[in-house]
Amino acid sequence: MLQKLKHSGTVPHMKKYYSIAFKFSILLSLSPVAQAAELFDAESVRLARAGSKGMIVADDAQAAEWGVDILRRGGNAIDAAVATAFGMAVTRPHFASLGGGGFLIFCPAPRAGKPSDCGVIDFREKAPGAAQKDMYLRNGKALSRLSQNGALASGVPGVTAGLLMALEKYGTMKRQELLSAPISWAQKGIRVSTNTEYAAKHRWNEMNAEARRVFGCNQTTRPCRAGEKLVQPDLARVLKAISKAGAAGFYEGNVGRKIASGIQAAGGIISMQDLSGYSPTVRTPVRGQFKGYEVVTMPPPSSGGTVLVQLLGYFDRAEKAGLLSQGFGSALSLHTQIHGMSLSFADRAEYMGDSDFHPVPLGRMLSENYLDERWKTFVPSRANFPDGPGVLLPEPQHTTHFSVIDSAGNAVAITETVNDNFGSGFVPPGTGIVMNNEMDDFSLQPGVPNLFGLVGAEANAIAPGKRPLSSMSPTIVRDSNGHARIVLGAAGGPRIITSVFQTLANRIQFGMSLVDSVAAARVHHQWKPSHVRIERNTFSPETQEKLRLLGYSLEAGNGLAVVHALERFPDGRVVGAPDPRGEGAAIAE
Ligand code: GLY
Repeated sequence: MLQKLKHSGTVPHMKKYYSIAFKFSILLSLSPVAQAAELFDAESVRLARAGSKGMIVADDAQAAEWGVDILRRGGNAIDAAVATAFGMAVTRPHFASLGGGGFLIFCPAPRAGKPSDCGVIDFREKAPGAAQKDMYLRNGKALSRLSQNGALASGVPGVTAGLLMALEKYGTMKRQELLSAPISWAQKGIRVSTNTEYAAKHRWNEMNAEARRVFGCNQTTRPCRAGEKLVQPDLARVLKAISKAGAAGFYEGNVGRKIASGIQAAGGIISMQDLSGYSPTVRTPVRGQFKGYEVVTMPPPSSGGTVLVQLLGYFDRAEKAGLLSQGFGSALSLHTQIHGMSLSFADRAEYMGDSDFHPVPLGRMLSENYLDERWKTFVPSRANFPDGPGVLLPEPQHTTHFSVIDSAGNAVAITETVNDNFGSGFVPPGTGIVMNNEMDDFSLQPGVPNLFGLVGAEANAIAPGKRPLSSMSPTIVRDSNGHARIVLGAAGGPRIITSVFQTLANRIQFGMSLVDSVAAARVHHQWKPSHVRIERNTFSPETQEKLRLLGYSLEAGNGLAVVHALERFPDGRVVGAPDPRGEGAAIAE
């Protein structure tokens, strides 16, 4: 199938990416994913890495290098992913802290010519045992500063338990080896990244004294600047305890006591019992089909996979109706995508939460009949929203996604987060651990928007031990033989889902290279607020005007999410595409 890219809908600074893809796309006649090797040329190497063995695409080059070192020592993709994650807990403490949580998908390479089962480990934070549905209400009003800042904002963290469970279930190496470099980095110091500097500046006023002591420079009078050295002796001790005792080194003993007593002394409710009782959950992935590929992605308590599969389903319907023929960036194609986003996020708000506590009607939400019915609301000549505008909130950067593949083709996608930059801003004294503010991902009150402007209902109300609804969408796309072909995910709250969707749409539907698919301009819509977020200086004024005429209210914003993706070709070559919106790197074995 010949795929021609239409790039006239974008403004010049994005054009250099599209011109590469366009130049090559007209020569190709293979299926879109098979085209990408040819679409990859010297100019785009600047943004990507190619190799024929393993690869890691992550937010931090030092941690990714460490993961690749583990691959070279004979480790598999899980060993490398666990090493990278512990590395980033040191190098990127503002989003990869052990005080956070996340999700992991693992798809082993096919065995004996048959696709293997993929596994999900859910290590999302849980509400503490003393949590109550109305714990953030005062005089009947939700106080989101309590769910966003300080000791009361944290759920029970899951990163350590999740990574160690993955290692035990699927890994081959000893945790002591994987933790060795991160421990020495915490002891000897790392160079602060631009991203960490930005995050610390953004949250400095809400940080407790201990967080400022740990992440401040110049006698803790100001946030450390990019390039300054940051030594984290308390965190080194925590990592050593984990190395020695496994998960108990974090959740029990000295470290567990310090976390619980530090939080309680500051008005929080996480107890030793909450910590020692925390366990990750093994889940079955959500699966969808898109143009002959299998999309393996996150089930609840993330909304990510369900919304992604719905979005791909609506996109497929748009294609069948001939609405995508004007190609990438055309107003009509964007209109179809935004309408799909509106339908899916309306479902998310009503139906989705932790399925261990509240039934999520996944079967119905993903059924072909249901998607057919919902898609009938698309009106080509105008926007057709169910509701009016809401509150548009600023863009935080606070999450991290990384994609790993090894030379055997085993693939891992991990997204983890502390929610906001530096999470709750709270570090329990003596631990060096940035605690999350994931409680804000619950619906504090029906209709009250969270940090990301998302609303929710009873399905996502607070309950002890329940996990707040997430948007994280680590995803693995497999071919019909069960080979992992694309491994991806993103940081960026609800924009994660729409950015993963658009990356796959660009790659598989529009036939762009992976690099171009990640870099291309994006839009985001989440039903409420009713604005459509559009990346500043990207789509042309003509395209934007057409969208306005259809009835969309556009809001220009900075980069929409940070996607880190890699693609493996049938001959074993791998291309990594870190998002140019972030500071990430692709490191090849
Ligand atoms: N904390 C943001 C999310 O999980 O979607």
